[in-house]
Amino acid sequence: MSGDTRVGRALHILAVSGSLRAQSKNRALLEAAQLLVPPNTRITLDWSLATLPHFNPDLDTLDGNTLPPEARRWRERVGEAEGVLISSPEYAHGIPGVLKNALDWLVSSTSFPGKPVALLGASAMSVYAPEQLRETLTTMNARFVGAASIAVPVSGARASASSIAADPELAPMLRGALGAFVSAIEDRA
Ligand SMILES: Cc1cc2nc3c(=O)[nH]c(=O)nc-3n(C[C@H](O)[C@H](O)[C@H](O)COP(=O)(O)O)c2cc1C
Repeated sequence: MSGDTRVGRALHILAVSGSLRAQSKNRALLEAAQLLVPPNTRITLDWSLATLPHFNPDLDTLDGNTLPPEARRWRERVGEAEGVLISSPEYAHGIPGVLKNALDWLVSSTSFPGKPVALLGASAMSVYAPEQLRETLTTMNARFVGAASIAVPVSGARASASSIAADPELAPMLRGALGAFVSAIEDRA
């Protein structure tokens, strides 16, 4: 992307939660990121994961004629964003199925290679899923931004975006990761 293409408009980051839970800490973390958004940046939450059909290569043909509309829209949303911010839990030492499914729909997308991607997680206990996600994203030729990828240890069953954004330990961590992500995106813009 050329820097000239977004003169006068905010840099757009698409935020994707690997958890579909209503009281999800990862969702709250992304909503907190919206509250702490760096200047000239907007973060929008995407809920495509909840409605994407199961990935099937038979539907992912070169001409695109059989691509399900949900998958097409998901690709478009990712393609339009300057960066993708994923926050995900770990399930049974792995990536949540809904998130892996969504990533599988992007494997043959022409706009995903080179896309800056940062990984957050709401639990410092999860070590397998972040590693597996990094491996998958690198294999898909995403531009993984390690400096912006951190675990933010959100505690409490009822953590909210506002409580995270006001937390004296968590807010600076999140703000730092967002700043590093925006810098990494702009460095190559
Ligand atoms: C089915 C299931 C399996 C889980 N497996 C792991 C695991 O292997 N490692 C881990 O650190 N946490 C595991 N957890 C805990 C979740 O990662 C943790 O509760 C996380 O905060 C949930 O994210 P959410 O609040 O955004 O839904 C598991 C939770 C569930 C429901």
